[in-house]
Amino acid sequence: MRGALSEPRAATYEAPPNIALVKYWGMRDRELAVPYNSSLSVTLDRFRSRTRVRFDPDLADDEVEINGVPAVGGPRDAVVRFLDRVRSHASVTDRASVVSDNNFPTASGLASSASGFAALAGAASRAAGWRLSARDLSRLARFGSGSASRSIFGGFVEWRAGRRRDGSDCYARPLYPADHWPGLVDVVVFVEGAPVKEVRSADAMQSSVATSPLYARRLAEVPRRLAAIRTAIRTRDSARLFPLIMEECDDFRAVCETTRPSLDYLTPTSRATLGEVRALNREAGTPVAGYTHDAGAHVHVFTLDRHARRVRSRLARLPGVRSTLVVRPGPGGHPVLRASQPVRRIPDPRRRGR
Ligand code: DP6
Repeated sequence: MRGALSEPRAATYEAPPNIALVKYWGMRDRELAVPYNSSLSVTLDRFRSRTRVRFDPDLADDEVEINGVPAVGGPRDAVVRFLDRVRSHASVTDRASVVSDNNFPTASGLASSASGFAALAGAASRAAGWRLSARDLSRLARFGSGSASRSIFGGFVEWRAGRRRDGSDCYARPLYPADHWPGLVDVVVFVEGAPVKEVRSADAMQSSVATSPLYARRLAEVPRRLAAIRTAIRTRDSARLFPLIMEECDDFRAVCETTRPSLDYLTPTSRATLGEVRALNREAGTPVAGYTHDAGAHVHVFTLDRHARRVRSRLARLPGVRSTLVVRPGPGGHPVLRASQPVRRIPDPRRRGR
């Protein structure tokens, strides 16, 4: 990693979340945060994390505030560990004040670690006077959260696992920009009663590596599936893409469920959503939608603009669905130069009509 050191100061950075179509699940080197397999995601518009970092010689300790509340315990420790990494690379010794806000309600249960750590990587490195290329920022962000490496870029993004032992060829790169496939939409289905994650993904995935009898077979299959998904995106072939992302999601879920102790992220409503998407495809006689989910209960249903209204209304009617929101591929992370501008809020899905 390279980057010229200048005067320490404050900086603000904004980053979006992403949803993986090919999942990152398992690290071959935990110290270096290097995954076993490459993954592929879509960066989402509308949602944003904005983080301001200020290194300050007068602070006795790091101060971390997330969504207006002082962070404590695990979440605070993860931020401090990340700051320590930046400090040691940039030769900064000052403690920092970190203020991070999501424009989506935490109660929505939408994963915020990808956007949060991408924003922290951008803000902390700039505040430390470290000017990193987007690729190097992606290399840095993965130490906070693996999926954060992909949120630096917009559109369709691949995180390459790389082969080198030192992890230097492990970084995300943009495949296609956000406007590559204008008709593609993601109907996010928010379900009632989504449980709060008990085990961090970084720990959960390592127990899958150690205990799931399906893990080795998954690793052998992912490169073929990733190549097929990349081709379906390049050619904007939804009839190929939708079944492939469902196959990948089903495989990820099978690995989770066969992990000991078992990892079950879905609620009955999430499962009903997957079933409804299969039913929609059966009725249409062709794939009109494809589902995926990460280590959580909400479901992302990809479809095309021309089917979006029908797909959305069918899913919104399922018992236990709190709300649905249509999002699209969006731009990646960027510095915020006029930090006084407020982050545009997404309404709380609990209060949205169906
Ligand atoms: C299932 O280590 O990035 O979303 O625990 O939220 O920091 P956090 O997650 P991370 O693992 C992501 C796992 C995944 C798949 C993916 O995004 O590729």
